[in-house]
Amino acid sequence: MRSILVLHGPNLNLLGNREPDIYGNLDLAEINRRLVAEGEALGISVRTFQSNSEGALIDALHEARQWAGGVVFNPGGYTHTSVALRDAVIAIGLPVVEVHLSNVQAREEFRRLSLIAPVCVGSIVGFGWKSYVLALQALNELVKP
Ligand code: DQA
Repeated sequence: MRSILVLHGPNLNLLGNREPDIYGNLDLAEINRRLVAEGEALGISVRTFQSNSEGALIDALHEARQWAGGVVFNPGGYTHTSVALRDAVIAIGLPVVEVHLSNVQAREEFRRLSLIAPVCVGSIVGFGWKSYVLALQALNELVKP
């Protein structure tokens, strides 16, 4: 069975409570449950991981080389700052889809720059938790045998 890593970056553990008018009311556990269910419907195994630490996210990307066909990645605030995460995405050589719940293009100026987007196969932003579902569907098409 094909496997996909869904990787959540900093502060996304607070979803549900954190700025719900921007990020919605669902907590991360519920979003992950829905993504695993969507994976089952698509015939792929979905593993999820969240960390607030840049190093742990880099380690998760490195480890994904051993078992995943691709990665759905919401780098949170690191999107706009992290050369190290960008380098990790390049280094692993797996297709990565960047995801944001909010429409980062319609918010503060500093959120318009993504260091990660140029090294991803594509980005899906602005559809709330369904951004992850759309990314999973897109990645599934890419990693199909
Ligand atoms: C976010 C957008 C980022 O700019 C922000 O720092 C986040 C969440 C999103 O999913 O909309 O933490 O990645």
